[in-house]
Amino acid sequence: MNDAPTRQIIEPFRIKVTEPLPFTTRGQREQFLRDAHHNGFLLRGSQVTMDLLTDSGTGAMSAAQWAAMMTGDETYAGSESFFELERVVGELTGMPFVIPTHQGRASEHILFAAAGVTGRTVLANNHFDTTRANVEYLRGRAVDLVIAEGRDPQSTHPFKGNIDLAALERNLKELGDEVLMVLMTVTNNAGGGQPVSLANLRAAASLARACGRPIFLDAARFAENAWLIKEREPGQQNRSALEIAREMFSLVDGFTMSCKKDGLVNIGGLLCLRDPKLAEQARSLLILTEGFPTYGGLAGRDLAALAVGLTEVMDEDYLRYRIASVRYLYNALDKMGMPLMRPAGGHAVYIDARALYPHILPHQLPGVTLANELYLEAGVRAVEIGTLMFGRPDPGGGPDVCAPLELVRLAFPRRTYTQSHVDWLSDILASVFERRALARGYRITRQGEVLRAFTAHLEPLPHSA
Ligand code: F0G
Repeated sequence: MNDAPTRQIIEPFRIKVTEPLPFTTRGQREQFLRDAHHNGFLLRGSQVTMDLLTDSGTGAMSAAQWAAMMTGDETYAGSESFFELERVVGELTGMPFVIPTHQGRASEHILFAAAGVTGRTVLANNHFDTTRANVEYLRGRAVDLVIAEGRDPQSTHPFKGNIDLAALERNLKELGDEVLMVLMTVTNNAGGGQPVSLANLRAAASLARACGRPIFLDAARFAENAWLIKEREPGQQNRSALEIAREMFSLVDGFTMSCKKDGLVNIGGLLCLRDPKLAEQARSLLILTEGFPTYGGLAGRDLAALAVGLTEVMDEDYLRYRIASVRYLYNALDKMGMPLMRPAGGHAVYIDARALYPHILPHQLPGVTLANELYLEAGVRAVEIGTLMFGRPDPGGGPDVCAPLELVRLAFPRRTYTQSHVDWLSDILASVFERRALARGYRITRQGEVLRAFTAHLEPLPHSA
């Protein structure tokens, strides 16, 4: 992990517990993929050698977290593990009301329902797909206003997660009371794991305040965002990632968090608020759907592990290694000419499958092609973020309405794979890259009405298609 001129950045941990990787033959993988109807989501864990489907809930916990699990307090009301979590979250974020949930989307649903999104608009840099789905399910409107560079895979803008401030101001003024809130996703998962700068967050917060609107963070990857600010934003190099994260939280009225990412746990979420009235409404909904406010859908041991995870994630040796390991793969792929979403983001490398396979049209799902080629080559699972995920059938029966980009995401579980795994992965990607001209597209044979990517059945197109 070579981003210092002289020294390699090594994994800042040694391994105490191991888990064997399943190895399979090409013949087995061909059969498994057929059984899964050529959709990686339908594969089983034991069929996957290196799983880069997501960085959500797939990381390794530390010895300290496992130790905390043993002393987690399973008291129904008033669990001591809750009070410890409340203390840690309060110190990190300054939020007075800390509401645990079982995962991020539960926090989103409760926030939008309690704040009353029906008939109103949320203005975001980019809504993550569950966030958008929750807004729309409650009959609100989700509007994405990321800067133009954020939609251009080639742009090397250091903060491609930034919101377009002019568009934000225009929308705030034109829509007035219809705007429920401004929401900033850090880092911007839907846009390639790209960070938001402090300057942009400060400016968005003051625009929102000037119009009397609250501003929230979707803070799933807040620590990676803080580290990328430290690395990339002028004037931030001498501050600690913790100071930067604290400033990010100080600028907003609250946040939702999927703790399965930067909480360094396998399950958990948070909804944190400053407004006591909104917190009361949220807690009422929490009791209805998740559980009592001192556990919110989690076991006491989960709360305990999360309190430790939120402390460990701010360790700068960890963050330096984390960002360097993603950049290490990015640099290796860039060197072989693989078309990538630029620059390297926080939690994943995104390959531009449309550019890799110019002979496969967007409605023939080039992202699915790449994901399946990777699986067949060596049992690596990645995820298509393109027309299968975000496109939809054409009402007139023509080719699908396509997504703006055909990307494949290689997401890195935290503290799970080592540099030699990444070297192996680079070799696999090099083989897939060499054979790119022979690859063929896919067509959908069966799909559901919502979130079709998770359940669709597919088949490869004949070579002449
Ligand atoms: N917000 C962001 C930015 C996310 O990336 C996710 C989940 C959520 C909210 C929802 O959180 O899964 O805990 O309910 N992202 C995962 C992914 C699923 O693979 O990127 P959740």
